[in-house]
Amino acid sequence: MDKKIESYLSFLAKQPEGTVYEEKPTSQTTPSKKSQTKQQLLDELKKQYSECSRCPLATQGRTNIVFGHGNPNAQVMFIGEGPGRDEDMQSLPFVGRAGKLLTKIIEAMGLRREEIYISNVVKCRPPHNRAPLPDESKTCKSIILYKEIKIIKPKIICTLGATATQELLERPISISKIRGTFVDFNGIQLLPTFHPAYLLRNPTKKRDAWEDMKKIIDKLASRKKPPAPQKNKRFK
Ligand code: URA
Repeated sequence: MDKKIESYLSFLAKQPEGTVYEEKPTSQTTPSKKSQTKQQLLDELKKQYSECSRCPLATQGRTNIVFGHGNPNAQVMFIGEGPGRDEDMQSLPFVGRAGKLLTKIIEAMGLRREEIYISNVVKCRPPHNRAPLPDESKTCKSIILYKEIKIIKPKIICTLGATATQELLERPISISKIRGTFVDFNGIQLLPTFHPAYLLRNPTKKRDAWEDMKKIIDKLASRKKPPAPQKNKRFK
């Protein structure tokens, strides 16, 4: 075997799981310079936009930018609308009441929060928790969210609520109509479900949301190594 190929293959074998290769090595680019782990790429993205002022949300009362958080090698990525007060204070997505319910949902699925990745369409809190405006979403999706998705390459994306679903699918579809249905998103299976904040206001809809989550469990199971859903199933 060609010596160069042999040494590259041995380099690859030593790389940690989840290493992303931006470019094929050429005689001009050594693999060690051109390869970065998903975590490194996410860190770089965060650094690049750590003082972002590309949309009006930057000056409308944000305390912190709330980047996505979780496992860079996640099979499942949850995407919400935008940070609320607690998230803005802690600089972490889904840590308030809705976030606590999301954690329960994830755990009822037999997963742990540390195994998945959670992000939002916009990374800065909209004033008075209003929905992000189309231009704000468009900007933030293109500069951050789509890059997060590209780096993580999850098997499944679960959009939480109408805003996240409409922003990813780029059509004004009703969440009640589309929830629980897998849709293709650039080769990734995307399943919309109700937003946990909506479930807090409408607890009778939790049953529907749980049906949606079971579809994600089944989809993961049809791939490999399924999570073990909790015995008492559902979340309360
Ligand atoms: N709601 C969202 O859509 N995202 C959060 O991070 C918190 C609440």
